[in-house]
Amino acid sequence: MTDTIRANGSATPASTKDRVLIFDTTLRDGEQCPGATMTFEEKLEIAELLDTMGVDIIEAGFPIASEGDFEAVSEIARRSKRSTIAGLARAITADIARAGEAVRHAGRPRIHTFVSTSPIHLEHQMRKTQDEVLEIITRTVAQARNLVEDVEWSAMDATRTPLDYLCRATEAAIRAGATTINLPDTVGYATPDEYRMMFASVRERVPNADKAIFSAHCHNDLGLAVANSLAAIEGGARQVECTLNGIGERAGNAALEEVVMALRVRGDVLPYDTGIDATMLMRASKTVSNACSFPVQYNKAIVGRNAFAHESGIHQDGMLKNQSTYEIMTPASVGVTKTSLVMGKHSGRAAFRSKLKEMGYDLGDNQLEDAFTRFKALADRKKHVYDEDIEALVDDNIATAHDRVKLVSLTVIAGTRGPQRATMKLDVEGRIVTEEVEGNGPIDAIFNAIKTIVPHEASLELYDVHAVTEGTDAQAEVTVRLTHEGFSVTGRGADPDTLVSSAKAYLVALNKLMAKGVRLHAQAAAE
Ligand code: KIV
Ligand code: ZN
Repeated sequence: MTDTIRANGSATPASTKDRVLIFDTTLRDGEQCPGATMTFEEKLEIAELLDTMGVDIIEAGFPIASEGDFEAVSEIARRSKRSTIAGLARAITADIARAGEAVRHAGRPRIHTFVSTSPIHLEHQMRKTQDEVLEIITRTVAQARNLVEDVEWSAMDATRTPLDYLCRATEAAIRAGATTINLPDTVGYATPDEYRMMFASVRERVPNADKAIFSAHCHNDLGLAVANSLAAIEGGARQVECTLNGIGERAGNAALEEVVMALRVRGDVLPYDTGIDATMLMRASKTVSNACSFPVQYNKAIVGRNAFAHESGIHQDGMLKNQSTYEIMTPASVGVTKTSLVMGKHSGRAAFRSKLKEMGYDLGDNQLEDAFTRFKALADRKKHVYDEDIEALVDDNIATAHDRVKLVSLTVIAGTRGPQRATMKLDVEGRIVTEEVEGNGPIDAIFNAIKTIVPHEASLELYDVHAVTEGTDAQAEVTVRLTHEGFSVTGRGADPDTLVSSAKAYLVALNKLMAKGVRLHAQAAAE
């Protein structure tokens, strides 16, 4: 912890603090939010990163939800090294059996089962009485406990549940064998004081509370998810459920990087440790942002691109004199490194490889070769190739490695004298197809061309473009969200040419839909 600068500039002393378990639900609650769908390979990559980073429990998915979720949870369980792997299950016999089946190959398997406890949910959603729900808890927790030693039970909508009933439900779950009790703020309604008190009261009133670890799970509807998670720890919770970049249902979940760094930087008032290697936070944030194509807000705490940028003269002056004047933690402590190698068109393969290594990428030979070819092409067109450019280029490369439909070439006629026209060549599962299509503007023409070659009814829900770096020759990063048959996916593409990035982003999203098994008639076009 010596690289953490405290507000007064001194290093945090090493201590024996209480341990807080980090339960990451990026692959379950995070993936559940609209547009954040990840492919099988992306989930495996993220799980490996979480495991290496020291996450105690990885909630790998909701096995009953789909065949794809089941496969991903099973494979993550098989590959897990240190982390416990959890599968989510409703309080339904078939769900629990499926979750048990999915996690059984993990070194440390966990079933996480949940049921609503609030009057609002019981009356309007479940149409069950409190006594009926108590019976369900006892039966389903016992079923889970017959399959694995480690069972987590969640009282959904705990923060809108009367305390008396929450205590009875908790007691029943522990009696039936639950080893972790999660009391979620499902709708992001609680305030920190209320949430802390809820944990303190339940732990005090439930006679067998000492037999379980208590867990916090906070949604961010009022922007209080991290504050509430920290308050829960003060109330006795020793597990925090969170996601990278705070992705999740609606306004998201508590952000893992914020919880971890708050505990670390403010160890003086929050004397708790996690097992997380914080220097991996930036890399993990980027990997998740790239996989689900959700851009990270510029001013996002810890991992936003401005989190360590000092713009005002007074701040810059202070920073030059002593970093602790305006930085409460070093960029390096969360894995933000300014790399030393400057890249340009004269840089060779060896320099490129070592640059990637500095940036935390570990590519196989083929991926490295592909990335190098793209780097050379970019360096020919762009004077300065920044770290951000290389990142966009490599991430783009990783994202397209398994694609069924790939961009071969694109020519667009645009300008004041319409109609705008796109000539597009795609590789559709190994077969080259070319189309020339008009549109109401160049982007419309490009998307129409893709639709002509790969007919589909997906609707475009979002089109967003921003520059990766500064300057007129900056790469444009485009984000596209498509929705079809109830699936919502997001794709991202980067290129110095905005029109090319638009085509790439659309194709990434389309490939994700296809990977989800959505029928798009692509085969028909390829035949
Ligand atoms: O927010 C919530 O209540 C959940 C449960 C499934 C734990 O995500
Ligand atoms: Zn949740």
